Amino acid sequence: METVSRTAGLRAAIRKRRARDCRIAFVPTMGNLHAGHLRLVAHARSIADCVVISIFVNPLQFGAGEDLAGYPRTLAADQAALMEADADLLFVPAEDDIYPGGIAATTTVVVPGLNAILEGAHRPTHFDGVTTVVARLFNMVQPDVAVFGEKDYQQLLIIRRMVTELCMPVAIEAVATVREADGLAMSSRNGYLRARERGRAPQIYRTLLDVKARVENGGKDYPAMEAAACRQLAAAGLDPDYVSIRRQSDLASPAAGDRALIVLAAARLGTTRLIDNVKISIS
Ligand code: PAF
Repeated sequence: METVSRTAGLRAAIRKRRARDCRIAFVPTMGNLHAGHLRLVAHARSIADCVVISIFVNPLQFGAGEDLAGYPRTLAADQAALMEADADLLFVPAEDDIYPGGIAATTTVVVPGLNAILEGAHRPTHFDGVTTVVARLFNMVQPDVAVFGEKDYQQLLIIRRMVTELCMPVAIEAVATVREADGLAMSSRNGYLRARERGRAPQIYRTLLDVKARVENGGKDYPAMEAAACRQLAAAGLDPDYVSIRRQSDLASPAAGDRALIVLAAARLGTTRLIDNVKISIS
């Protein structure tokens, strides 16, 4: 696996592979790779000749008071895991590769509407930071396909919309959430949890599964179910930001007749904020 740290090096490495007519799959990450990321890499490996990963902790998607400074940076372990996963090219840009003019007044990419609900209501600048960096990374890597996890479901939909509306020539593929044995969705932020918090964290997934079962068994009063789920989380010692039942295709509130739904949640455990979601299908 080749590691490049500057844009010029990346472009040369990509050119070399393009000249060999390679199909390129791209997995953008912020590093601190876990089994969830490695599943994305394995999927990329299965659909392309050349697998490119980026590791960049993007300052633009962190709000004031969020965990940018403390975000885990584990490059040596990440490189070893990516070599094991048979990745071809690792791009580890510096901040001035991505934001040559600084981040204060940089050109941004915004997907309005979807960027303001659910996670966006609690992290108002987050998705604009994500779309801005992903658009740049797509322009730099010029992949045929990019792979994202369903754990960040809202991010996945926003990126799909960005790609469609900006006519970006990249296919977006989604990979199911990878979970610990007790159901906790894998996340770099799980590492922040203290032992007692870690014991409580799987309650998010259990609560989402309860909501799924109620809806699939014919429950219709979604606001009441969402409120009950928040109470269930609070009773387990979590501090919920939201539990919300939405339409899978666009995260709108479900209308009569919608059959493909999703329930999403965000909750705090101490200083750690966790998100998760579960799909619901009404037969
Ligand atoms: O999902 C993530 O890790 C990040 O939001 C991404 C897509 C790498 C952009 O920084």
